[in-house]
Amino acid sequence: MDGSADGRSASSRAGDGPGTRFSEERSAEVVAASFAGADDRLKRVLSSLVHHLHGFVKDVELTEREWELAIDFLTRTGQRSDDRRQEFILLSDVLGVSMLVETINHRTGGRSTESTVLGPFHMVASPPRALGDTIALDGRGTPCLVEGRVTGADGRPVPGARLDVWQANADGFYDVQQPGVQPELNLRGLFTADADGRYWFRSIVPRYYPIPDDGPVGELLAATGRHPYRPAHLHFIVSAPGYRPVTTHVFVADSQYLDSDAVFGVKDSLIRDVPEVDDPDRAAAAGLPNPFRCLTFDPVLLPEPAAD
Ligand SMILES: [Fe+2]
Repeated sequence: MDGSADGRSASSRAGDGPGTRFSEERSAEVVAASFAGADDRLKRVLSSLVHHLHGFVKDVELTEREWELAIDFLTRTGQRSDDRRQEFILLSDVLGVSMLVETINHRTGGRSTESTVLGPFHMVASPPRALGDTIALDGRGTPCLVEGRVTGADGRPVPGARLDVWQANADGFYDVQQPGVQPELNLRGLFTADADGRYWFRSIVPRYYPIPDDGPVGELLAATGRHPYRPAHLHFIVSAPGYRPVTTHVFVADSQYLDSDAVFGVKDSLIRDVPEVDDPDRAAAAGLPNPFRCLTFDPVLLPEPAAD
């Protein structure tokens, strides 16, 4: 008996034989063949995963010590994750996988605003605010007018488009990172564009900030001489009935780390100058001190694909 459930010898089972046993040369093929019972998509995903994983192990000739370190790293990555912190997403981010998945799933063909990662700080619903309101509830930071117009790819305005915005403060922290320091819902707002697709609100210029680097992912960054910083940005989710929503950032052109975002989120099309405006009348009209900075961002949406 070979211990198999049906009592047959291993070599008598269909497909078995010396050519189908695990070997260094045939490892990936043999393991991939074990997924024959899966549905087509699962089979494709697992087969590709195994081929790439085995190729990687063979390429670097992984040592047993390195394998143990990898298991320990992944174990600690899981242990560090809970409902407030997701170390695995962070790992995906710093390996560029989050951005790759995002990019593959939201190809625009250059016709609409490019997307980028949602990020971990959209954890509370943004409060509805009126056009022109301020989202800087504590009034700290360099005053900034944020304005623009939402259009379709044909250039026509999208009346009533919704703009969900959130950003870090002048010290590089989101409100949820500083309870008791920042007011609740500081630097967040849900705006509705006017009949011409236009929107405007008051804020402050955000600052660059580090991703959480006191866990296993931080060890990875430190071991490879990488910094944990993201360049200054505002988050936007722009949506409207009949259009595909876009989750994106607008990056501040003079921010540090634009060329070395820890999560690879920067796209050239999303970088904007935020010039200083010295115009007392305009400042008074906007309700801002003079001078102020001004960020203009005109989101372009694609129509929802027609239903089959
Ligand atoms: Fe962010």
